[in-house]
Amino acid sequence: MKLAVPKERRAHETRVAASPETVKKLSALGFELIVETGAGLTAAFTDEAYAQAGATIAPDAASALGQADLVFKVQRPLLASEGGIDEVSLLKPGTALVCSLGALYNRDLIDALAKANVTAFAMELLPRITRAQSMDILSSQANLAGYKAVVDAAGHFSRAFPMMMTPAGTIAPARALIMGVGVAGLQAIATAKRLGAIVSATDVRPATKEQVQSLGGKFIAVEDEEFKAAETSGGYAKEMSKEYQAKQAALIAETIAKQDIVITTALIPGRKAPVLVTEEMVASMKPGSVILDMAVEQGGNCPLSEFGKTVVKHGVSIIGPANLPAGIATDASALFARNLLNFITPMVEKETKALKIDVADEVVKGTLVTQGGKVVHAQLAPAAAQA
Ligand code: NAI
Repeated sequence: MKLAVPKERRAHETRVAASPETVKKLSALGFELIVETGAGLTAAFTDEAYAQAGATIAPDAASALGQADLVFKVQRPLLASEGGIDEVSLLKPGTALVCSLGALYNRDLIDALAKANVTAFAMELLPRITRAQSMDILSSQANLAGYKAVVDAAGHFSRAFPMMMTPAGTIAPARALIMGVGVAGLQAIATAKRLGAIVSATDVRPATKEQVQSLGGKFIAVEDEEFKAAETSGGYAKEMSKEYQAKQAALIAETIAKQDIVITTALIPGRKAPVLVTEEMVASMKPGSVILDMAVEQGGNCPLSEFGKTVVKHGVSIIGPANLPAGIATDASALFARNLLNFITPMVEKETKALKIDVADEVVKGTLVTQGGKVVHAQLAPAAAQA
């Protein structure tokens, strides 16, 4: 089977879906690897490194994708309507595609993939079960994004993070507040701590309290009955009531005025990100403070943040990063590539080296969105899936 890895063409993307390490392992599994020339350059993986690992280098996207039985990508393929090249039309019928599809938000693309008879897997829909942890692109990328968020915020801050006692005087430590303690938030807490900041953190899921404290952070939340019940069985946050949000906002307003750095990571699957840092709160912060809004793509946790820009409002720098993992492309690609390797490995039949797609498997069922010319995912085609 031929497995192609094209160059990513979406704006802000620097990652690649295979590393020389995974190319070697995929070749050992029986795949014939085709990597588009330059696909890894922005992640510091050269064509030579891929070739040494066993890949054939294709001169362009058409020749890489046109012969593939399986395609690994980071971002969803481009449609003709988006300008540039039409990546969907380059896939041959029956090809399997594994990438982050944003399947619940890009219906046009999903319909186009079904029409093109592509067997598409949406990696962002992977079930959060223990067996699938090593395949989880959301976790691997959020972890690195949490680290990069703090490093970028530190880069925009005109003061130091750690306390320093020098002959010329003492520098006070920075105070950092992390809002939302999922995978990204936990890494942000750990990174800010390592840099020497005084860290506090808040979340609506009660399970996070202990996690914050174990990383040496101070936990801040309104701990009422609603808070105690605020977690779905999948481990995600629920949308909180207006009353809770008001109480939480009052507590946060008091806390934020004392912070130098605020990193917001709060997301609720399938909904717009909750507003946690209002303009009034921004105005209460000291000049020179920095807010980094990791939820900017989902509408933002701060209404003043702008996607892909750093703006200064009320003397506070507000960063709205377009793609944090892309800013740490080598490690992000290496982990993303391993997630895809771990995802595909159980599907490869030992003897024939062909893909066996078992729709009864929880991991397959959770991610498979199109097959046999149809949209098959339960969250996209409920009637079909129930039948
Ligand atoms: P996420 O990216 O969906 O959200 C980030 C954080 O924002 C969450 O902790 C959420 O509770 C918080 N949040 C939402 N609304 C908020 C508000 N109004 N105020 C403050 N915080 C708010 O979350 P992520 O990183 O995807 O993790 C969610 C959970 O899933 C975690 O418990 C994580 O450990 C778990 N998980 C489990 C995996 C597995 O078992 N395979 C893999 C990855 C994560």
